[in-house]
Amino acid sequence: MKLHPDLPIGVFDSGVGGLTVVRALLEELPAEQLIYLGDTARVPYGTRSPQTVIRYSRNAARFLLSRGVKMILVACNTASATALPVLLQELPTPVLGAVEPGAHAAVAATRSGTIGVIGTLATIRSGAYAAALAARRPDVKVAAVACPLFVPLVEEGWFGDEEPVADLVARRYLGELHRQAPDLDTLVLGCTHYPLLRRVLARVAADLWPHPVCLVDSAEAMARAARAELERLGLLRAVQKDPGRRRLVDRLRCFVTDEARVLDIGARFLGRDLGALETVDL
Ligand code: DGL
Repeated sequence: MKLHPDLPIGVFDSGVGGLTVVRALLEELPAEQLIYLGDTARVPYGTRSPQTVIRYSRNAARFLLSRGVKMILVACNTASATALPVLLQELPTPVLGAVEPGAHAAVAATRSGTIGVIGTLATIRSGAYAAALAARRPDVKVAAVACPLFVPLVEEGWFGDEEPVADLVARRYLGELHRQAPDLDTLVLGCTHYPLLRRVLARVAADLWPHPVCLVDSAEAMARAARAELERLGLLRAVQKDPGRRRLVDRLRCFVTDEARVLDIGARFLGRDLGALETVDL
């Protein structure tokens, strides 16, 4: 398969949460075109078994390949934590997950050497973040807590400053993390949905820990890693000079496996309207 800088980048996620990664990519890589696939008919992946997540991830990656992408970004942390080794082995394009970039940014940020990770049940159970952190810094201490209520809260839009529910739930989960790791100084937001909870998490962390806690957004870390990898491979697209071609519709094509609520919820993650949606069956 001949890869070329002008081909689009493929991004997939279990649902619309991966649009936080698309948002970061649109900023970080202004010349690139993106094809997004949200497997909205089968979301969530975070409560499923590894075998199922691998099967779904394969389906999603094959769809993106059929659209002629030059690189596949596994925006979903659950799919990255579970299926990335299989995809790396099977796919003919470069593949990038969320775990490695998040771990890289966390190790660079920590001073105390104690890092917290929050994510879905499947991500935390996989131990993928703990392994990636230890591979970079063997003496690191990792505390990890699954936060299954965060995904539905964010999808419901209950994360604004005036929402006490998000605050209460965050206090419960981060309280557990604080008991495990009072000296933690870095917290990896290991799920596509958590960047939207950033303000709530920062507020609760500031109440629990007496010292500053750095929140690592794996979506932003992933966009930076994608740029570095494209540069390394000579696949970065030349800067688009014509501003008329920078409209969202020229840069992003969005596929989903079920359309229900996607336009409403998706806009929250992307930070603007999604425009047109195309529905596909995997
Ligand atoms: N996209 C998933 C993740 O980042 C969250 C939603 C789900 O459970 O599928 O882990």
